[in-house]
Amino acid sequence: MKLAESMSRLGTETAFEVLVRAKGLEAQGRSIIHLEIGEPDFDTPKHITEAAKSALDEGWTHYGPTQGHPELREAIAEYVSSTRGIDVNPAHVCVVPGGKPIIFFPMMALLNPGDEVIYPNPSFPIYESMINYLGATPVPMPLVESRGFSFDLDLFESKLTSKTKMVILNSPANPTGGVMPEEDIAAIAGLLQHRDVVVLSDEIYSRMSYGKKPVSISTFPGMREKTIILDGFSKTYAMTGWRMGYGVLPEFLVAAVNKLMVNSNSCTASFTQRAGIAALRGPQDQAEAMIAEFRRRRDSFVAELNTIPGFRCPMPEGAFYAFPNIEGTGWKSKALADALLDEAGVACLSGTAFGAFGEGYIRFSYANSDENLRDATGRLRRFFATKHAQ
Ligand SMILES: Cc1ncc(COP(=O)(O)O)c(C=O)c1O
Repeated sequence: MKLAESMSRLGTETAFEVLVRAKGLEAQGRSIIHLEIGEPDFDTPKHITEAAKSALDEGWTHYGPTQGHPELREAIAEYVSSTRGIDVNPAHVCVVPGGKPIIFFPMMALLNPGDEVIYPNPSFPIYESMINYLGATPVPMPLVESRGFSFDLDLFESKLTSKTKMVILNSPANPTGGVMPEEDIAAIAGLLQHRDVVVLSDEIYSRMSYGKKPVSISTFPGMREKTIILDGFSKTYAMTGWRMGYGVLPEFLVAAVNKLMVNSNSCTASFTQRAGIAALRGPQDQAEAMIAEFRRRRDSFVAELNTIPGFRCPMPEGAFYAFPNIEGTGWKSKALADALLDEAGVACLSGTAFGAFGEGYIRFSYANSDENLRDATGRLRRFFATKHAQ
């Protein structure tokens, strides 16, 4: 039996593959430091887990509305309104199992073969995977290290054509940690304002910024009606395993996304949605303390990385990733990431796991303890003291 032809175009997320390989090495007795997977190393705040437990006891164990429970959609609308400074209608909020479905469903709903999608490269690999899967045309925007991993705006303008159907933005960004300057977002909004395009604004790291505040493109004139805001609970509230995210959608997309949801998941788990209300409306001190801790670790980890010969690591302004340029080591990205896992016991990701323009970089997640981060840089130093580029 042959798989559908379209499956050959579907990509993957290398972080999960490297995690399995790293666990395999650990099972053989090797010591591995896990800097590969993108998730907070903190527990979900207690008041959120307590809300889920109470919800189970109260019987929130049944199917719920496909679009999400109304009270959670209201809480999300309030939250997004206040954090972005826009006025969100709960009727435009769709609750889904994780942030990822807000990539999957709107793309399924919008893209025909031949439609062009402009997306950052390197970036979260699911964008490119879905563009290819749907037979649309990927139009990568190389990120510019010297511009804080933002776009070259002239190049961006030159890539807009009559076939451009979607533009993807992700700020703060995975894997670079870059935050796009407000002027760049304003310029992009100006170019898109009168075009018939949809923007997928992946704002899953919106609370995790350490310098300039990220600005949502939805705040610019004419952009609300064409912007999908993707956000969720995974990163901000350390809830990656709960699988809960949401989209704030242009009105014309809501019914289509609900239709895809009813065909696939029926609804997001009911008791987790009760916990989501507790997350958004409850105390924010633990989320804020976690973010402050990421900032502290970022400062020391990046300073250490910059002492490794051949590494040049710009200070990331958001998320919890460091994305050093490793060209000075003489290694190719994939070969280095593999060797660091196999020989130094440091699991990280090749920049090319995020697209072709990630060559010359590797990604470390610094969502790990001080002790492990220090151990990792020690291992890197010892590795480069004895190994030469291959
Ligand atoms: C940029 C970006 N978007 C979306 C997601 C998906 O988040 P979730 O785990 O909630 O599906 C991730 C997760 O790593 C991400 O880095």
